Amino acid sequence: MDSIAKFKAAARVSWSTFAPFEMITGTTAPELVRFAGVHAGQRVLDVACGTGVVALTAARRGAHVTGADLTPELVERARENAEIAGLEVDFHEADVEALPFDDGSFDVVLSQFGHMFGPRPDVTIDEMLRVLRPGGTIAFSTWPPELYTGRMFLLIAKYAPPPPAGVSSPAAWGDPAMVRERLGEAVRDVEFDRACMRFPSLSPAHMRLFTERNAGPVTKLVESLADQPERLAAFRAEIEALVAAYFRDNVVYQDYLMSRATRR
Ligand SMILES: C[S@@+](CC[C@H](N)C(=O)[O-])C[C@H]1O[C@@H](n2cnc3c(N)ncnc32)[C@H](O)[C@@H]1O
Repeated sequence: MDSIAKFKAAARVSWSTFAPFEMITGTTAPELVRFAGVHAGQRVLDVACGTGVVALTAARRGAHVTGADLTPELVERARENAEIAGLEVDFHEADVEALPFDDGSFDVVLSQFGHMFGPRPDVTIDEMLRVLRPGGTIAFSTWPPELYTGRMFLLIAKYAPPPPAGVSSPAAWGDPAMVRERLGEAVRDVEFDRACMRFPSLSPAHMRLFTERNAGPVTKLVESLADQPERLAAFRAEIEALVAAYFRDNVVYQDYLMSRATRR
């Protein structure tokens, strides 16, 4: 197995406990669906769909929706969510770098805090644009590197072993200039907007613990530091200080970027 394949195999395991986050990511999903202008009858793909929060929101608008995610536990939960909600969505276990769909299959390709974890941005974006029809809309939500979650990625990078060569930081997707560069000449009409995820939490320590238990990259890092208690304690102290900077009245305020473009 090459280093990228190993990276994805580890990601698949570490994201398996993400489901409790759906209570929060479900609240931002309608922002992305609205920003992308999803409407009834469109063929929509939700990339790195997790438990299907964006997919189900789009399906409720009458779109024909497909969801794809690397992590089997989340795909299973997404199917369960669709059943509970009484909505039809076609969920697949799939890697964003190798989507199992024909060229031009979708009118809209979306990703909420998801495609940014595809290890190689050029491969990821080529694949998302390949399955989008000419004239179709690509739209995604990502974390700016200078704000809470982006800074968390930088903190993880400070404590974790370096990723394999060619793996880019997910935080880079939160920079509009980088988004423009990565979308390149394949698209026109690039637009941006910002919104805020309001994350209820009783204290910075509660937020730190919830993140450790449920956010794949943090879970993986904490496990890797198990035999280095001083380093683990330093990481935890830095996370709590970071949370405290965005914490007010039992809420962690997390502003994020939405990007949208039309495939040429
Ligand atoms: C932060 S979660 C977001 C999930 C969902 N979009 C949401 O808003 O709740 C990141 C997701 O990316 C998925 N993921 C990570 N690497 C992936 C890859 N190479 N291909 C497809 N999905 C991937 C994880 O399994 C996880 O569901």
